[in-house]
Amino acid sequence: MMGVNFVMVFVTVVFLWMMTVSKGDTEVSCVFMEKCILPCTFQSDTDIVIHWLQETAGNIHVHSFYHNQDQPALQDKHFRGRTSLFNNQISRGNASLLLMWADVHDEGRYKCYTSTITGNKESFINLEVNAPVQEVTLQQVGNTMNCSSEGIFPEPQLIWSTSPPSNVSLQYETTVQQTEQQLYNISSSLILSDSDKDSVFSCNISTRRNWRNATLSEQGNVVPVRGFRGGVFAAFLVVAAAGLALYCKWKRS
Ligand SMILES: *[C@@H]1O[C@H](CO)[C@@H](O)[C@H](O)[C@H]1NC(C)=O
Ligand SMILES: *[C@@H]1O[C@H](CO)[C@@H](O)[C@H](O)[C@H]1NC(C)=O
Ligand SMILES: *[C@@H]1O[C@H](CO)[C@@H](O)[C@H](O)[C@H]1NC(C)=O
Ligand SMILES: *[C@@H]1O[C@H](CO)[C@@H](O)[C@H](O)[C@H]1NC(C)=O
Ligand SMILES: *[C@@H]1O[C@H](CO)[C@@H](O)[C@H](O)[C@H]1NC(C)=O
Ligand SMILES: *[C@@H]1O[C@H](CO)[C@@H](O)[C@H](O)[C@H]1NC(C)=O
Repeated sequence: MMGVNFVMVFVTVVFLWMMTVSKGDTEVSCVFMEKCILPCTFQSDTDIVIHWLQETAGNIHVHSFYHNQDQPALQDKHFRGRTSLFNNQISRGNASLLLMWADVHDEGRYKCYTSTITGNKESFINLEVNAPVQEVTLQQVGNTMNCSSEGIFPEPQLIWSTSPPSNVSLQYETTVQQTEQQLYNISSSLILSDSDKDSVFSCNISTRRNWRNATLSEQGNVVPVRGFRGGVFAAFLVVAAAGLALYCKWKRS
């Protein structure tokens, strides 16, 4: 009974806490190097002031507008030339921000502060930037399989699997490298073993927003099989020829 009460109180407290913390925070997801819109609205009136600030980076100025015009002098250089408001929409209470060429450093919490003669308002945006997994390359070089993909954000996960499922644990090594743009290149080399014969290999690279996979059947086990069948046929021919020779020899004598 005590336990149930405790759980109920705990759940209620967590719920209330979540309501307060996340209230007003809008989640926005942007694609790396593309443009995106951070939404913000207010009750329109005269003397409009708009300040977009990036909280995460220490309340740096992203875009400001007052005296009926943009105020680029206040803007942090990280955002220079990449932001604009929808000027024909401001008088209608739309303070949404257009952000161009989203990069990894743009991630974080943004504050939209608006004020008019009737009052002011603050609202918050949580911006995430994603460079989705594009192409997964899977190839066999000798007795290793190599799976790779480039230009991903955030850091991707890579999972190998076989069909039918492998009985022994797969031996592989995965390397992740970060580019100058803070994107991730990933590559993984898997050592093929005899027990993997006739398996189809699959490599799955994923991030929070998407995943891609590639599949390849192990090459090289086809040739030995054909060689073995050829060998059986050759052995049959040798035995047959020997038999024929013996038969001829026996008949002649
Ligand atoms: C604000 O204006 C932009 C550009 O026209 C539009 O995409 C967006 O939906 C508008 N937001 C609201 C809340 O009207
Ligand atoms: C696997 O491919 C990546 C990217 O093409 C390359 O950098 C790496 O050297 C390759 N590894 C092997 C073992 O072939
Ligand atoms: C897996 O391998 C072990 C020994 O290597 C064997 O006893 C077992 O039967 C195998 N299981 C399957 C499903 O092939
Ligand atoms: C990541 O991959 C890209 C595209 O193949 C390549 O140009 C770049 O040099 C790679 N960067 C690193 C750090 O491996
Ligand atoms: C690839 O991995 C992701 C994340 O783990 C998973 O959701 C997805 O189902 C996987 N795809 C396949 C084909 O296994
Ligand atoms: C991805 O995995 C699924 C399930 O394993 C498979 O059906 C599909 O063909 C794979 N895609 C590619 C491109 O290999």
